[in-house]
Amino acid sequence: MNSIVRIMPDPKLRSEPLAFDFRSAMRHLVGGVSVITVGRGSETSGMTVTSVSSLSVEPASLIVSVNRNASSWPILQRERVFGVNILAADQLEVADRFAGKGGAKGAERFAGAEWRKRATGVPLLVGALAAFDCEVEDIIERHSHGIVIGRVLHVDATAPAAALAYWQGDYLTVDRDEDMLKLATMSVPNPQSTRKF
Ligand SMILES: Cc1cc2nc3c(=O)[nH]c(=O)nc-3n(C[C@H](O)[C@H](O)[C@H](O)COP(=O)(O)O)c2cc1C
Repeated sequence: MNSIVRIMPDPKLRSEPLAFDFRSAMRHLVGGVSVITVGRGSETSGMTVTSVSSLSVEPASLIVSVNRNASSWPILQRERVFGVNILAADQLEVADRFAGKGGAKGAERFAGAEWRKRATGVPLLVGALAAFDCEVEDIIERHSHGIVIGRVLHVDATAPAAALAYWQGDYLTVDRDEDMLKLATMSVPNPQSTRKF
């Protein structure tokens, strides 16, 4: 039998400043940028996320953490299907739009990019590094967010290209060739160096 042990922090140890420290500390975590898409008919929406993570390969499944105040949340709960689109470096505008920048809402967020439908009918971004068509397997509601477990029904993947990441409150490009070049430059031994490792 599976048993879940939940460790509840002592309320006496909780303090509000921790939230500030936590937020600041999490800025150090580099996040790959994805857009999740929800809805199949006239009511579609989506949001930019960094919380996508692989859960298991067999079966192919992933998790994403979604704020329960986001406009996508009720659609996701009702429709029980969603798309995950891993953004390429040249899709920064898509990231901004789905993060709500510029004020676009719902279906308006899909303007300016090309979308296609696969098994579930949710829009998947053409030109994304990878796009996953998912059905909701489970949702765990905790605090402000819902941890959504998605079973992957279809995968669209493109050739490797530069990725879009988010770090220290800003977007950056992750490009294998450029980064390998930087690494190679950094790792050339410098006989003048006084640094000891
Ligand atoms: C880089 C970045 C990463 C984000 N990651 C998440 C995330 O993992 N989960 C989440 O709920 N919101 C995340 N957000 C916030 C949502 O994108 C934003 O709240 C949403 O698009 C706007 O919500 P609305 O649809 O209610 O207007 C992120 C925003 C940015 C800019």
